[in-house]
Amino acid sequence: MDDEEELLPERKYPANQGFVLWLTGLSGSGKSSIARRIEQELKERSCLVEVLDGDVVRTNLSKGLGYSREDRNTNIRRIGFVANLLSRNGVATIVAAISPYQDARENLRATTENFIEVFVNAPLEVCETRDVKGLYAMARAGEIRAFTGIDDPYEEPINPDIVCYTAEETLEESVAKILAELEQRDCIPPKPQIEFFI
Ligand code: ADX
Repeated sequence: MDDEEELLPERKYPANQGFVLWLTGLSGSGKSSIARRIEQELKERSCLVEVLDGDVVRTNLSKGLGYSREDRNTNIRRIGFVANLLSRNGVATIVAAISPYQDARENLRATTENFIEVFVNAPLEVCETRDVKGLYAMARAGEIRAFTGIDDPYEEPINPDIVCYTAEETLEESVAKILAELEQRDCIPPKPQIEFFI
């Protein structure tokens, strides 16, 4: 090692390459829970990671947008734009958004490197029973309009990379399935083995 090399500061490279893990599914299907668990797992593997959650994005980046087809697709394009910027700088980017329209998702796939589409698949009845935010009840009562699955469409992905059946599998099973796929694609390093020192 010559002098010049010795003077260079130590650089920390991310442990992962950038990718966009896009979780699509009905409200209450489990997208956010999966996104947060994956985020936690990836941090433990020293990955740079960011979550873009539809509910959060709609309070800032997409504030003012509604739920018409046009507004939803604008929302998805914006999230896709930011996800692209992050992932091309080596950030593992996880998106949790209903993203109900096939054409918008196809467009994302065509314009995003390392795009991985996850269909978070739970039957409407199950999502409605969970009704974490009470929005299904409001939609049934006609208090809110154009609610996905009630009086607005959800186009199921035709060829998703991963499907998580959240009514049948546990959160840990869904997460394990996704992590295995990310490892298999060399997007993330394997889970570090715990070493015991005596
Ligand atoms: S998307 O259709 O544009 O992808 P996004 O995931 O950002 O939707 O936001 C969905 C969230 O907005 C839901 O989880 C729910 O909390 C809230 N929401 C409010 N009104 C509606 C509606 N009419 N349809 C769907 N979600 C709604």
